[in-house]
Amino acid sequence: MPEGDKAVEQRRSAAWFGLDGKLGFVHRSKLYNRGGSGSMFDGRPVIGIANSASDLAPCNAHLGQVAEAVKRGVLMAGGVPMEFPTISLGETLMRPSAMLFRNLMAMDVEETLRANPLDGVVLLGGCDKTVPAQVMGALSVDLPTVVVTGGPALNGRFRGESIGSGTHVWKFSEEVRAGRMTQCEFRSAEACLSRSAGHCTTMGTASTMACVTEALGLSLPGSAVIPAVDAGRARIAEQAGQRIVAMVEEGLAPSRLLDRRSFENAVRVNAAIGGSTNAVVHLLAMAGRAEVALALDDFDRLAASVPLLVDLMPSGRFLMEEFHDAGGLPAVIRELGDLLDRDAMTVTGRTLGENCADAPNWRPDVVRTRKDPVAEPGSHTAVLRGNLAPDGAVIKLSAASPQLTRHTGPALVFDTIEDYDAAKDSPDLPVTPDTVLVVRNAGPVGYPGMPEIGNLAIPRKMLDQGVRDMVRVTDGRMSGTSYGTVVLHVAPEAAAGGPLALLRDGDRVTLDVPGRRLETDVPDEELAARAPKDSVSGGLRNRPAPGSGWASLYRSHVNQADTGADLDFLTGRRGHAVPRRHL
Ligand code: FES
Ligand code: MG
Repeated sequence: MPEGDKAVEQRRSAAWFGLDGKLGFVHRSKLYNRGGSGSMFDGRPVIGIANSASDLAPCNAHLGQVAEAVKRGVLMAGGVPMEFPTISLGETLMRPSAMLFRNLMAMDVEETLRANPLDGVVLLGGCDKTVPAQVMGALSVDLPTVVVTGGPALNGRFRGESIGSGTHVWKFSEEVRAGRMTQCEFRSAEACLSRSAGHCTTMGTASTMACVTEALGLSLPGSAVIPAVDAGRARIAEQAGQRIVAMVEEGLAPSRLLDRRSFENAVRVNAAIGGSTNAVVHLLAMAGRAEVALALDDFDRLAASVPLLVDLMPSGRFLMEEFHDAGGLPAVIRELGDLLDRDAMTVTGRTLGENCADAPNWRPDVVRTRKDPVAEPGSHTAVLRGNLAPDGAVIKLSAASPQLTRHTGPALVFDTIEDYDAAKDSPDLPVTPDTVLVVRNAGPVGYPGMPEIGNLAIPRKMLDQGVRDMVRVTDGRMSGTSYGTVVLHVAPEAAAGGPLALLRDGDRVTLDVPGRRLETDVPDEELAARAPKDSVSGGLRNRPAPGSGWASLYRSHVNQADTGADLDFLTGRRGHAVPRRHL
C-alpha cells in the first residue's frame, strides 16, 4: 500500500490487506490463488458484487452475466471486484412464500458486507423480494452502494399478442374456470409467457422495486427498465461498476444520499407508474433500515397529487419493453417535474432533477403527460382504517372496480386460503355479488410470511352470473400483477390479535374508500365479548412462536405490515465498523 495516502489508509479494506504480520499474510495469501498480482492489495477500492443468481430464482438466473459487466467496470476504474453469492428468493418456486425469507436474505447481505474487506458494493437482484432484501441489508451497513437489477424479460407472446407475467396467468385461469379457454390452450400459453432471461414484464413487484430503487437514487438513471437481454443492460452494469469505485473515493454512502425527500419521491413515483402494493411494505422496511421516518399514511397522502402516467399492465395496456422504448423512468421523473423533490441526491453524485432534466419521452402513449394521464391523481393507493384495521390496510385503486369502492355487504369469512379454495366453486356457497370475501391468518405471523393470496378467485357461482369483481379483504398481500377490489395488509393481522380474527359470517362490512374506512357495524362491546383472551392481548405475536428454526424466529420477531414487516431487531443502521479478528 502506498504510504502517506490518507484516503487509502482509511479505506476499510486496508484493515485487512494493509496489515503487516501473520494476519495480513493470511488475509492476502489465499487470494493469490486467483492468479492476480499484488496490485490487488495496493490500496484500490475493493468492491463487493452481491449476486443473487440462482437456478431456483429463474428471474435472476442470468445475473452472472451482469456481474461480469460490473467487474469490467470496476477494473476499468481501478477497483478490485469481489463477487459473492447471496441467498436468492424465487417468487415462483418458494413455499410457503418468498416473503418469509426477505428478512433472512437481508441478514445474509448485511452480515456478509460487514464481515468482509469491502469498501463498496453493487447489488444484483431482480425477482420481487431480492431487491428490497439486498437494499435493506446494505442500508443497515451503509457502505457506498449501487443497485443493478437484472432487467425485465422480453414481452411474452401468445397467438400474436403480448401477454404479461402474472396478469395473464390470472386472466387465463379465470377464462378456463369460465369455460372460455381449454386446458390445452392454457398449457400452451404457459410456455409463451417467459420468453427470455429477466424478471416479470408487467408493472409487478420486480419492475416496481427496480423503478422505486432508481427513484430513491440508488441506481443509475435509466437502469430500471432495460430488458435483461438488451446489450444496454450490460452497458449500464459496466457503468455501475465504474461509478461505485468513484463513490468509494467520494465516500458517498446511502446515509449521504437517502433522506425523507428520497423516500417521498419513491412513494410518488410508485403512484405514477401504477406500482405494486408490495412496494408499500418494502419501502417502509427500507426506510426503517435507513432511519428515515416514513409511515403508512404517507403512501396515501403523497400519492394523492400524483396521476398515473405509465400505461402498463396490470393497470394499463403495455409491458416493460414498451416502457423501455419510451425512455424508461427518467421520462416519468421529468414529466412529474415539481411533484418530486428534484434536489434529492443520487448515486451519480448529482440530483434526481439533474439526472433527468433532458430525458426524452419517445412513446407518449406509454408514458403519458400530466395533462393527459392514464388516471387522475389519487387513483393509486388508499390507506384505510377502522375497527377492522386499527393500524391500517391498503387498497390499490387503479386495480379496483370504481363501483365497489363504496360498498357494504355481509362477510363470508375463511380462516385459511385452503378453506376458501376448497369452497369457492361449490354451488352451495352462500355468496351474492354483495358478499365481502374475507381470508384471514395470511399475515406475517399467521401464514407465516404474508403470502400473495389476496386476489381470491371469484366464486364459480358468481362467475356464472357474470360477476368479475367482488370486495375481498385479507391480512395477506397480493401479487403486483393482480387486479380487483382487494383490501390488503390489514393490520394488526388476525394471528397477532387483530380484530379481523373476530369477524363472523354475515357481519356487515363496509369498504368506504372516499372515507378511507374499513369497518364492521358489529358494536365494540360485541367484538370485545367475542375476543378470546389472548387475542385482545396481542395473540401469537406476544408469545414465543411454536416450533424451531427460521419460521419460529420470524414469527416471534416480525413487525406488522404497517411498518414494513421487518424483524424487530433488524430495523435501523448498524454501520460498517471493522469487526475484531486475531491470529
Ligand atoms: Fe420473479 Fe415475477 S416471478 S419477478
Ligand atoms: Mg410478484
